[in-house]
Amino acid sequence: MASLLEARNVCIRYPLRGGLLSRAVSYVEAVSSISFDLNAGEILSVVGESGCGKSTLAQALVGLVPWTSGELFFDGSKIDVGSERVWKKTREHIQMIFQDPYSSLNPRHTVHEILTYPLSYKGVSTAERDALAKKNLELVGIPQSALEKYPHEFSGGQRQRLGIARALMMRPQVLICDEVTSALDVSVQAQVLHLLDSLRKDLNLGMIFISHDIQVVRTISDRVMVMYKGKLMEEGVASEVLAGPQNDYTKKLIASVPSISF
Ligand SMILES: Nc1ncnc2c1ncn2[C@@H]1O[C@H](COP(=O)(O)OP(=O)(O)O)[C@@H](O)[C@H]1O
Ligand SMILES: [Mg+2]
Repeated sequence: MASLLEARNVCIRYPLRGGLLSRAVSYVEAVSSISFDLNAGEILSVVGESGCGKSTLAQALVGLVPWTSGELFFDGSKIDVGSERVWKKTREHIQMIFQDPYSSLNPRHTVHEILTYPLSYKGVSTAERDALAKKNLELVGIPQSALEKYPHEFSGGQRQRLGIARALMMRPQVLICDEVTSALDVSVQAQVLHLLDSLRKDLNLGMIFISHDIQVVRTISDRVMVMYKGKLMEEGVASEVLAGPQNDYTKKLIASVPSISF
C-alpha cells in the first residue's frame, strides 16, 4: 500500500541576488535531496539546529516555496509541484500550522470568521460551516463561547489550539507543524503536544512535526529525521535514534541537550 505522503529527493535552493540588476549570483541549498514516507496516523519529526532547512522543507510540502527538483506523492498520486492550481487543491489535504499563531490569526476577525473562512469558497452551507466550527472547537478543547471573540482575548496556548482548529476545518489528512510549541511555556507545550497526539489518533492524521527541541521530539514522535545543513543525517524509529544515534552529528545534537528528569 502506498504511503500517505512520499517525498523523493526534495531539493530547494534560494537564489542569492547581487549587482545592479539583482541577478541570482549564487544559491543557498536549503534542502538537499531529502526523501521520506509518512503513513496515516503517524508522527514523523524533523529535528536539527536553526538554519538547517526545516522550515524550508515544511513550506515546500505545502507549495509555499518553489521546488528546485524532487517528487511528491499524496495518497499514491503524483503532485505536480510546479502548478499553483494543483497546490491549491492539495492544500485541502495537507495543512500547515506555524510557530506563532497570533500572527496567522487575523486580529480583526472573530473566531467564527477565522474558522469558517476557508470553507466559504467551497460551497459548504452556512449551517454546515457553523456545525464544523463548533465541532472543531470541541476537538481542540476550546469552549463554544469563543466563536464571537477575537484572537487577542486568548492566551498563547489557546491561540495555538485555534490555529489547529482552523487547520482542521478542511479535514486534511496531513498536518505539518513547524515549531508549533516553541513559543509556549513548558506546561502549555505539554498540553498542546498531548492534543496533537490525540488528534492524530482520533482523525488518523499523518503529521510532520518540526522542532529544534529534542526533548519535545522525544515525547511525540514515531519516527525522526535528523537534518544538518539541508541534508538528512539519520532517520529511524524515534526511540532508537534518540537512544542510540549512529550518526556523529546526531550524537552531538543529543549530547548538547541537558538531561532533565521529571
Ligand atoms: N527566503 C529565503 N531566501 C534566502 N535564503 C533563505 C530563505 N529562507 C531561508 N533561507 C536560508 O535557508 C537555510 C534554511 O533556513 P530554514 O529553512 O528557515 O531553517 P530552519 O527552519 O531549520 O531554521 C538558511 O541558511 C536560511 O538562511
Ligand atoms: Mg524554522
